[in-house]
Amino acid sequence: MHVPVLLNQVLNYFEPSSGKNYIDATIGGGGHALSILSLTEPNGKLLGIDLSEEAIANLAKIKNQKSILRLRSGLMVSKVEPSKIKNRLILVCDNFSNIKEIVKKNNFSPVHGILLDLGLSTDLIENSKMGFTFMKQEILDMRFNPKTQDLTATMILNQYSKEELTEIFKEYGGERFSHRIANMIVKERKQEKIIMTDQLVKIIKKSLGRYFHVKSLARVFQALRIEVNNELEVLKKGLKNSLDILAPQGRIIVLSYHSGEDRIVKNFFKQTENLKILTKKPIIPDEQEIKENSRARSAKLRVGEKM
Ligand SMILES: C[S@@+](CC[C@H](N)C(=O)[O-])C[C@H]1O[C@@H](n2cnc3c(N)ncnc32)[C@H](O)[C@@H]1O
Repeated sequence: MHVPVLLNQVLNYFEPSSGKNYIDATIGGGGHALSILSLTEPNGKLLGIDLSEEAIANLAKIKNQKSILRLRSGLMVSKVEPSKIKNRLILVCDNFSNIKEIVKKNNFSPVHGILLDLGLSTDLIENSKMGFTFMKQEILDMRFNPKTQDLTATMILNQYSKEELTEIFKEYGGERFSHRIANMIVKERKQEKIIMTDQLVKIIKKSLGRYFHVKSLARVFQALRIEVNNELEVLKKGLKNSLDILAPQGRIIVLSYHSGEDRIVKNFFKQTENLKILTKKPIIPDEQEIKENSRARSAKLRVGEKM
């Protein structure tokens, strides 16, 4: 089960209670969502969105499960009875940039809170076989939803120009040696098409030589994933559309995991006139949480309230 990041802070800012409605726009393993739902008994509803078909299918199964669910967050364990959430959880497989249309279609209003917990879920890393991590030998695909998306990481690596690759690794990965890496990719792909994660790992290692650090692998993989899923543009659109559907005094909470994302959220919050910023500085997990959940390491949480 995915351990939800900064769960207590999310719950504190949302103040879920009966009759309130929330949207978890990146429901993933449902860690945040099920806790929110359990606090909105008996009348509150939750609309869960995810691009990943598996994520939605797994949650649909939970909905129909007979036995009680135990939700763990750090040392806290809460219990949820599937029968009590069954009719209050609506699941939609779609891109959160379409949140306005999704809400309209499902007649979901008023919306008291929207959560965006960006990036990858543990499940996508561990089980999707889409090449999200350099720690597994898989095909470099990286699409959140292969049915609705065409561009793959393999296409980027074999078709983009050296300049385009350099730009992506620099902008989306913050990689200092992006030029060297791009150079080697272009050279190596002439010999053999780059398809597998381990091929890319070898190329990165070769291009950096004694400057190699495992962080460069993480940066390049992150950059490819962001490009494949057009994540930054999608985030901008999702934020704007989220604000349009939020009820007055409704809150938007965004959890981001790298500087590119956080910058977009910060600027959006600053530039939006009818949004009151509730977190002057982003909230970050304490040492204890990071020790228990390494995914929390780079998390930053920002909250805004619609005026
Ligand atoms: C960090 S996980 C969410 C984890 C969740 N909060 C939990 O507690 O289990 C992010 C999820 O967002 C989904 N996702 C990423 N981009 C998306 C998008 N544009 N629209 C909808 N879902 C997206 C991913 O498929 C992934 O399941």
